[in-house]
Amino acid sequence: MNNRVMAVEISGIRKFYNKVRKVEGAISLTLGQPDFNTPIAIKNGIKKAIDENKTVYTENAGVKELRSEISNYLRTLGVNYSEEEICITIGGSEAILDCFMALLNEGDKVLIPTPAYPAYESVVNIVGGKIINYKLNEDFTVNVDNIKEKFKKEGCKYLVLSFPTNPTGAVLDKKGRDELIDFIKSEDIVVITDEIYASIIYDDYYSVAQESSIKEKVIYISGFSKMFSATGLRIGYIACHDTIMKEIMKVHQYGVSCATSIVQYGMIEGLKYSMNDVIYMRDEFLNRKNYVVGRLRQIGFHVSEPRGAFYVFPSIKKFNLTSEEFCERLLNEKKVACVPGSAFGDGGEGFIRISYCYSIEELELALNKIEEFIKNL
Ligand SMILES: Cc1ncc(COP(=O)(O)O)c(C=O)c1O
Repeated sequence: MNNRVMAVEISGIRKFYNKVRKVEGAISLTLGQPDFNTPIAIKNGIKKAIDENKTVYTENAGVKELRSEISNYLRTLGVNYSEEEICITIGGSEAILDCFMALLNEGDKVLIPTPAYPAYESVVNIVGGKIINYKLNEDFTVNVDNIKEKFKKEGCKYLVLSFPTNPTGAVLDKKGRDELIDFIKSEDIVVITDEIYASIIYDDYYSVAQESSIKEKVIYISGFSKMFSATGLRIGYIACHDTIMKEIMKVHQYGVSCATSIVQYGMIEGLKYSMNDVIYMRDEFLNRKNYVVGRLRQIGFHVSEPRGAFYVFPSIKKFNLTSEEFCERLLNEKKVACVPGSAFGDGGEGFIRISYCYSIEELELALNKIEEFIKNL
């Protein structure tokens, strides 16, 4: 067995989910999976592709029309990539793996925020890179001074950004974006920006990928798992400059050849005809976010206001339990499951992640139980 792979643990989110499954009748607020049906246009697009026998390999980079639709969509966000600069992957997950496999040599240092989506650290470990964590502000927004300090001290080659953030819901504001752009311009660094939650944002959208002068230093990762409530359809994408894409394409080609053909055709229909569904889902998430944050504060939690994605990351520091202990007890005593913040790295300790991918009724029931649990602590 490969030593690096053996040293990596399975995701703490999955680990906890496996415990939840054993508790009968538990209400789970653990999943990063929207509870809406995938838009009808996408389903029909997939069915049509099957009927038309579009079940063969596509181009390695993916169906041209889908790449062209993605290029148009990104332009609406102020992010400019041509269809030649886009590669369709098997979810955002393959995009992350491909990037690090293509970029990293043994020992290369990668700046990764903490807390963060666990795949960045695990994949960097698997491919032999070295993780250098950087801290965020108290409200989980980016602190460019912390990044600069670590960059200088450690000599890092790569920087991971991810806004809106899983698990905190933080987004990038204009000031943060502009400071990051200045930093990226002035240093020899390549940035991987994972923006898979970009369609679920309650503020204005800002990204370092909006700055064309640093295009050769930015790799943009996104996908449709969250945007179209389609986590099982497994379509993501990478957009970047040709010089980097040339290498990423080799990893993608030898790893998977191409993403699933029929689903790619479905996503074309999604981008053409389902954007109203995306807005509907975003508005629903906003209502739920307001409800959950309001209730949590009323119960007595300190909560940083999430501005995107569909997670809240309240502090549990005042209860003097580790996040793992807190979640285990909440699960066993009240049958409500949340993810321990420690699943998202060292910076996640002292917090729990609550996903609001659930109906208001389910959220209300769970929050009532959380309230009872806190009263008896
Ligand atoms: C920040 C982030 N990036 C990437 C992914 C992976 O997405 P996919 O399911 O499309 O592989 C997730 C999934 O939860 C995520 O939260």
